[in-house]
Order: sequence, then C-alpha cells, then structure tokens
Amino acid sequence: MIDIHNHIVWGIDDGSDSELTSFEMGMIAASSGITDIIATPHCIPGRFENYCGPEFDAAFSALRSALGAEKATSRLKIHRGMEVFACDSTPEDYDNGMICCLGESNYMLVECDFDEDPWFFRDVLMALKQRGIRPIIAHPERYYFAHDSIRYLFDLVNMGCALQLDSDSIIGEFGSTCRGVALELLSSSAAQLVASDAHDQISRIPDMRAVADYVAQRFSYNYASLLFEDNPRRILNNQTLLFRGQSPNGGRARPSSRYMSDEEYWGI
Ligand SMILES: [Fe+2]
Repeated sequence: MIDIHNHIVWGIDDGSDSELTSFEMGMIAASSGITDIIATPHCIPGRFENYCGPEFDAAFSALRSALGAEKATSRLKIHRGMEVFACDSTPEDYDNGMICCLGESNYMLVECDFDEDPWFFRDVLMALKQRGIRPIIAHPERYYFAHDSIRYLFDLVNMGCALQLDSDSIIGEFGSTCRGVALELLSSSAAQLVASDAHDQISRIPDMRAVADYVAQRFSYNYASLLFEDNPRRILNNQTLLFRGQSPNGGRARPSSRYMSDEEYWGI
C-alpha cells in the first residue's frame, strides 16, 4: 500500500510531536504493508506556515534519517508532500513557489475549512487547475457543504478534481454523517483514493488493512486495490488517476450517480 496523506513529519503541525512518535508511526506503517508514504504536513496561513524552503526540506531529511537508521523502518520510502489549505492567497502562493505538489507530480492535496463556502473552494481549485495542477481534495466526506449536498463533490469531480477519503471515515470514526458520505462516494465510484491521514501512533494511525479489507468485501477487491495501491502509485508516477472499472488504456469512466450534474450547475 501507498499512503498519500500522512502527518508523520514531526514538530511542524498537529501530527507527530516527536521523533519517537514518527518512528512509531513508521513502524506501524511498515508492519501494516505500507511501502511508501507521501508525508503531507498542513500548510495553513497563520497556523502552520510550512512553506517550501530549507526548513521544510530539513524536516523531511530528519525524518528520512531517523527512519532509515532503524531496521524496522529503513525500507519505508518517504516522499515530500503538503496538505495545502485553500485560501485567497493559495494560487499566488503556488506562483511564488511557496506550496508544493505530491512527490514529483503535479497533483496537489488541498483541504479547506470544514465550514467553507463550497463556491469559494471551487474557485480556488479552478485557479489551481488553470496553473496545470491536478487537485486532490483531502477528506471530502468531512466538509459540512458535502453533508448538505453531496452534489457539490460530484461537481468537483466533473471539474477534474480527485477525491481522497480518510480511511477512518469509512468505518465511522468521524461519525455517521461522514461515514454515510464516504460510502456514497464509494458506491458511486466517485472516490479515487483512500489514505490514512495519520496524525499519531495511538488514535489516528497509519494502518489501513482493516479498512482495505472492508472495502474489498463490501465493494470489490479491484476497487480496493485501485484506492489503496494503484491510484496512489499513479500519483508517484504522475500518471492520470483511474476511476473504478476504467482500464488504463480505456476512455474516461464516469462515476455512476444519480447526483451527477452537468456543467451548467457551476455556471461554466
Ligand atoms: Fe491531513
């Protein structure tokens, strides 16, 4: 498995608080079958200002050294990433080289306030797309606008954004509403990625085995494989993400949902 959303870098956001915590998270990840982690510290203006630069890179180097020094974690590959918080300055921050995509790809992991205006979020995502970025929406099932209407998310998919569910949401760790939206996104095939969004070694941990098994049994083995392994690898290779049931050489499969709307809905 490849985990594309993980707060294993210590000391720079609300994720790991120490080298030891990061090591323990790495142990959990490695022993649960994760081979690669794209580490994605929050970048939130005024709160966690983890912009690209020497300090940011040094935090990753320290993490790689710490994990590389121990046999249990030495084979875990750590890729550089960031969870970008959508705000007014996001497009400009990208232009100024302050925020980055996942690994060497042009996929950017983007989150927003839980009570964000979906129209504002959409405008930020559109501005990023105009810059050649392929946005991945972090934990779409947790935003209040998605609880009001899942249709907002289907429209973002139509716009070319990918949806990344948090593994914990699927099994109800964030409540029944989040779980309901996550299951709807799975049953409609709109979700293209699942990640741990791990923050520590105790409660939000990087072990997705049980959830992957659950998805395989409830939906299909192939869909689980796409969500946890194949599409995450495609991010590392900067390849186009696939939808459920879509072959790599085939046309674009569309999520099958009665909620799927047309472009007029967004006025574009
Ligand atoms: Fe996160």
